[in-house]
Amino acid sequence: MESLKVLLVNGSPHKEGCVYTALSEIAKTLKAEGIQSEIFWIGNQPLAGCIGCGTCIGKRCCFRKDIVNDFTALIDEYDGFVFGTPVHYSGASGSMTSFMDRVFFIDEFNGEHFAGKPAATIATCRRSGGTATLDQLNKYMADCNMPIVPSQYWNIVHGNNAEEVLNDEEGLQTMRVLARNMAWLLKCIQAGRKAGITFPEHGPHTMTNFIR
Ligand SMILES: Cc1cc2nc3c(=O)[nH]c(=O)nc-3n(C[C@H](O)[C@H](O)[C@H](O)COP(=O)(O)O)c2cc1C
Repeated sequence: MESLKVLLVNGSPHKEGCVYTALSEIAKTLKAEGIQSEIFWIGNQPLAGCIGCGTCIGKRCCFRKDIVNDFTALIDEYDGFVFGTPVHYSGASGSMTSFMDRVFFIDEFNGEHFAGKPAATIATCRRSGGTATLDQLNKYMADCNMPIVPSQYWNIVHGNNAEEVLNDEEGLQTMRVLARNMAWLLKCIQAGRKAGITFPEHGPHTMTNFIR
């Protein structure tokens, strides 16, 4: 059986903080399911927001000094994705929002490499704002033909640091269930492909810009 790989994106400025701890729980469970994974940290250096210049259409993002182009070059190597962010003012971190805007805009106009690949989002927070953050991040998947993988509860762990996250037993269980659901869906897609079932063609996107 061809090996399956998942890329786990850490959208926190902390390399080994709460998001990392939650993603590590997912990585451990995926490994137990025979699925490889790696954590991709977006870093803590300035990450520009999309300036809507259109340079990336058919090419690369105009901002060459951060990690967005490095990330998009990796998409084809992975079968599934988990995007994780800390909650900052009841939304994704500023850097993660910039990262997601640019990565998904590039993908939409450069061959849709994400389409048909399962994805999930997770959030970590001290207290609240987690579900609003998941609503924000899930929209990228819904816009790009990516099946969204669920768990048994909202994909959130609570904590202000890694140690606190390790005490959130329900949150960690939610991460493990999410990882097993991701593994199941990836294996189903792989088995389907072998049986000749491929992701549907959707043709060019008609954009009417609400002009009547
Ligand atoms: C700028 C900023 C805003 C934050 N806003 C919230 C918030 O709205 N709700 C909340 O529960 N925690 C909030 N927090 C706390 C973080 O979400 C929490 O510590 C998170 O788990 C940290 O994850 P990390 O260690 O991976 O960065 C905020 C933290 C920062 C730095």
